[in-house]
Amino acid sequence: MPHPDWYYDDLRQVGLDFEDPTLVERYDRAQNTSLKAERALVARLAPPRGGIAAEFGCGTGALAVALAELCETVHAIDISASMLAVTERRAARAGQRNLAPQRAGFLSFALPDASLDLATSKYAFHHLPDFWKAAALARLHRALKPGGRLYLADVVFACEPAGIPAAVEGWIGWMTRETGYSRDEVATHVRDEHSTFDWILQGLVERAGFRILDFTHDGTVYGELLAEKL
Ligand SMILES: C[S@@+](CC[C@H](N)C(=O)[O-])C[C@H]1O[C@@H](n2cnc3c(N)ncnc32)[C@H](O)[C@@H]1O
Repeated sequence: MPHPDWYYDDLRQVGLDFEDPTLVERYDRAQNTSLKAERALVARLAPPRGGIAAEFGCGTGALAVALAELCETVHAIDISASMLAVTERRAARAGQRNLAPQRAGFLSFALPDASLDLATSKYAFHHLPDFWKAAALARLHRALKPGGRLYLADVVFACEPAGIPAAVEGWIGWMTRETGYSRDEVATHVRDEHSTFDWILQGLVERAGFRILDFTHDGTVYGELLAEKL
C-alpha cells in the first residue's frame, strides 16, 4: 500500500551523502572499519546460531558479514545502492549466500512481522528526526520475534544543552585527529543530521515496547543500547 503524502521519505540521504561513490570508496579507511571488531560485537550480542538478523544502515557491510558467519539469514538493509554494492562484494568474497541485501530504510524496509531474532544498527539511526525514530522503532518492534533483541550504536549526546558546544567541539577535534573525516563533514553531521540526547533515545526505545537491557555511553558522543522486545 502506498504511503500517504505526509510520510517521511527515508530513501533520501540527509547530511553526508552516502550514495556518493567517493565517500563510499574511502569509507572503511575513514572509519577504521574492522571485521575483527564486528566479530567481537557479534560474539557479545550472541544471536541464536541459525537465527535471523537484520542490519540496518549496513554501510559497507562488515557487521552484516560478521553476523552472516553465525546466522541463517542476514538482511543487509541500506538506502544507498553504492553502500549495498560494497556489502554484496564483501559477502561474495567471504563466500556467503545467506546475506539478503535490501535497498530500503528504517521506515521502508519490508520484513515479515515477528521474523527477526536480532536487529542491529550502527551510526545510521541518527539520520531520522526523533518523531520518525519513534515510527521506525515501532516497525523494528513489529519485525522482531517476542524476546528478540535490538542493538543500536550511535552518536548521542549525554550532556546538558549548555554543554553542547564543548561536546561538539571535542568530538570534531577527535574525529579530525583520529579518523579520515574533515571538520566540515563532522559539522555537517551535527548541523544537518539528527543525533539526539541519550535520554531521548532511551525514552523512544522504551515507549516502543522494548526493555533496555544495557545502555553505555563513553562520555564523549558514542552510545550503545541493547534492548529486548517485550
Ligand atoms: C555512517 S554510515 C554507517 C554505516 C555502518 N553501519 C557502519 O557502522 O560503518 C550511515 C549509513 O546509514 C545509511 N542510511 C542513511 N539514512 C538511512 C535510513 N533512513 N535508513 C537506513 N539507512 C540509512 C547510509 O546510506 C549509510 O550507509
